[in-house]
Amino acid sequence: MNQASVLVVEDNDLERQITVETLRDEGFAVEEAGVGKRAIELLGLARFDVVLTDLMMPGMSGEEVLARVRQQYPGTQVVVLTAHGTIESAVQAMKNGAFYYLAKPTDRETLVMTVAKAAELASLRQENLILRSEMEGKLQIEGIIGQDPAMQEIIRIVRKVSPSNSTVLVQGESGTGKEVIARAIHRLSPRAGRAFVAINCSAIPDSLIENELFGHERGAFTGATERKIGLVESADKSTLFLDEIGDLGVGVQAKLLRVLQEREVRRVGGNESVKVDIRLIAATNHNLAEEVAEERFREDLYYRVNVVTITLPPLRDRRSDIPLLAGNALSRFSNLAGGRVREISREAMERLLDYSWPGNVRQLESAIERAILLCEGDAIEPRDLPQEVLARKSVGRIERSRAGDRFEIPAEGINFEHLERDLILQAMEKADWVIAKAAKMLGMSYRTLQYRLDKFAIKKPDGRAGAAEPEG
Ligand SMILES: Nc1ncnc2c1ncn2[C@@H]1O[C@H](COP(=O)(O)OP(=O)(O)OP(=O)(O)O)[C@@H](O)[C@H]1O
Ligand SMILES: [Mg+2]
Repeated sequence: MNQASVLVVEDNDLERQITVETLRDEGFAVEEAGVGKRAIELLGLARFDVVLTDLMMPGMSGEEVLARVRQQYPGTQVVVLTAHGTIESAVQAMKNGAFYYLAKPTDRETLVMTVAKAAELASLRQENLILRSEMEGKLQIEGIIGQDPAMQEIIRIVRKVSPSNSTVLVQGESGTGKEVIARAIHRLSPRAGRAFVAINCSAIPDSLIENELFGHERGAFTGATERKIGLVESADKSTLFLDEIGDLGVGVQAKLLRVLQEREVRRVGGNESVKVDIRLIAATNHNLAEEVAEERFREDLYYRVNVVTITLPPLRDRRSDIPLLAGNALSRFSNLAGGRVREISREAMERLLDYSWPGNVRQLESAIERAILLCEGDAIEPRDLPQEVLARKSVGRIERSRAGDRFEIPAEGINFEHLERDLILQAMEKADWVIAKAAKMLGMSYRTLQYRLDKFAIKKPDGRAGAAEPEG
């Protein structure tokens, strides 16, 4: 284990010596300063987990040392020492960000324990800080956070396709970051200097969307008192993002296809065409190939749109990104609580890692936003998280009652679907993904389990469904 480092700041030579020796005995790496000025020098030379400082010192006071540390060394914790009768200043020091205070004379045990606790917190903070700076650095391109291998691969594709004009189709469940990808491609492209034009096809009724996309000439219909430039035209020399393209009506699909083929638009009610130079990025959370098979989406348009496809994995399939995404949301929303909430406790992070996130990154972000508002300290705790996030953990708390085959529902309730999914997943894992074996474990038929595996989209981690084997 790494040795925690402590800086002892104390003007009384004898007291300082005793403290230094005590801490060295306990295995801390200790440096000492007799005056505040020296302490500041040492802080600039090495990294300390804990600064243990006397409050009342000639020259620079302990309060000033504390203020300096809080300002410049967020990874360092401060413990203040105070003489009898000055508890108020100690309380004030805590308000100013000290980890704890100790009244002099301090007994050995309290001293060691307090410093050890402070060192522990410091190392947690430092981990968080490192995580944050890594995230802000190499792991992020144009707002895409993702260090999971699948996301790294996506980032590689984004980099590769951005400079070209090729059409990109972004697929993925709701909230997986399709728009984030689209915007990143635009910003990394030569078209970045122009505004990104986005339209959500599912939010506009069929009757209006043609008008929105292609515009109209004056007098095209009653009420068309002026010419209107459509979004396609306004995206000239830029990027057009068609969100939820799967929701476009069939009539509009035909017109869009024409635009993509001819690279020109005709405004509604007009008879001349205007050349447009657009780069199209489309997104959908439907399976477009299926929509084609069911004749809800034109096959020819599908081929036009589906040149480069980026499929975003659901968040539950890239759990290693959860801490980064949660940390990012924390920095984004922390001003909600005046910047007070600075971290996510280990327990809370475990809950976040455990949950299945059906609403993906968007749901994670709103859970963090809400937690910041509810949080009373400076770290998000499990109690600040939404019920559904905690529900899965409740599984562990359901105990088999002594009466036998009966599960006790905890007072806070359970989420039945999660519980069901979790039990099935556990059984499949225990049965090495042999469906018949897992079915037996769960006391259900092969067919029933097969149905539920499909329903919950439970797949073996390597991507294949459970091995097919005869019913038995
Ligand atoms: N990889 C990521 N890095 C950083 N933020 C992300 C990432 N993915 C998603 N987000 C954030 O999650 C939220 C949802 O992302 P976005 O709107 O791109 O999802 P979407 O797939 O378009 O969702 P929907 O299908 O519901 O429109 C946004 O606030 C976005 O900033
Ligand atoms: Mg979207």
